[in-house]
Amino acid sequence: MSPHAQLIKSLPKAEVHIHIEGSLEPEMLFSLAQRNGISLPFGSVNEVRDAYDFSNLQDFLDLYYQGMSVLQTEQDFYDLMRAYLERVHADNVKYTEIFFDPQGHLPRGVGFDTCLDGLWRAIGDCEREFGIRAKLIMCFLRHLDEADAERTLDLALVHKDRIIGVGLDSSELGHPPEKFKSVFRRARDEGFKLVAHAGEEGPPDYIWQALDILGVDRIDHGNRALEDDALVKRLAADKMSLTVCPLSNLRLRGISQMADHPIRRMLDMDLKPCVNSDDPSYFGGYMNDNFSALDKALDFKEDEVFALARNGFEAMFLGSDEKSKALENFDAGVSTVMAQAPRSQP
Ligand code: ADE
Ligand code: ZN
Repeated sequence: MSPHAQLIKSLPKAEVHIHIEGSLEPEMLFSLAQRNGISLPFGSVNEVRDAYDFSNLQDFLDLYYQGMSVLQTEQDFYDLMRAYLERVHADNVKYTEIFFDPQGHLPRGVGFDTCLDGLWRAIGDCEREFGIRAKLIMCFLRHLDEADAERTLDLALVHKDRIIGVGLDSSELGHPPEKFKSVFRRARDEGFKLVAHAGEEGPPDYIWQALDILGVDRIDHGNRALEDDALVKRLAADKMSLTVCPLSNLRLRGISQMADHPIRRMLDMDLKPCVNSDDPSYFGGYMNDNFSALDKALDFKEDEVFALARNGFEAMFLGSDEKSKALENFDAGVSTVMAQAPRSQP
């Protein structure tokens, strides 16, 4: 238990950096493999979990792409999304923006609509059944070329009503944001919000490129921004949201222990970090686990927990009216929690 575990649990939260394929739990990996007649190179759930011992991002991505090969039918995508939404509903997540990777499915013969229809149907059912709200962000795989991203954007154009934005993920080093300048410009012109992983493993220059060449609306990770004072100033001036993923950073060895996590320094430098799970099945935890891991290691003050949770709502890709309402609801939720919850620190 972390010092503020109860507070973390009761706070309303928004998660804006989660790859749905990274929420595939080993149990579901096995059941979908069986349902679809696919053989896996693992004998048991424990063997799978043992394999989740990564040295870097690429090490993880190799398993991530292998894992998603069990996703084949509309029902598979439905089950995956439903399991994630039910799980984070239990963490009191009220709103979530969820990445999906069509280029991880198309080459396997899984259609864009098969994937999107299943994800969307689960979102609709869960919103109706327990009120959680979710939006979809389509990511381009940066290890592929820009022409492939352009073709993927073409497929998304008829689904603008179901996709709020586009993102950039996969192997960062050697694949700078500038490689995707044209497709991001077209996505912007088509009305999509823009986001890119930058500064997870890549240098501060990749964050500059995401800002100045792609024109992103927020940055995924951004940890390495702290190596560049001018960049920190720019991010603070722009009030740019940084979607930080603590357990991911630990498991992919961006930090060697949670006590070294830069998130408090980010807050102190007037940046706008929020807390997210990235690939919760692979990195050992969902939203509250990420908050609690930080809380335990950094000995948070209550104010820091509130600021991080509020930043999650600030980061949302919603119109200003909806966002103001969500922030009002968050502030009201905080007041209720403060009035009711037993707290470990005054
Ligand atoms: N795809 C899924 N998780 C990712 C991460 N942490 N970084 C880059 N690409 C990803
Ligand atoms: Zn990510």
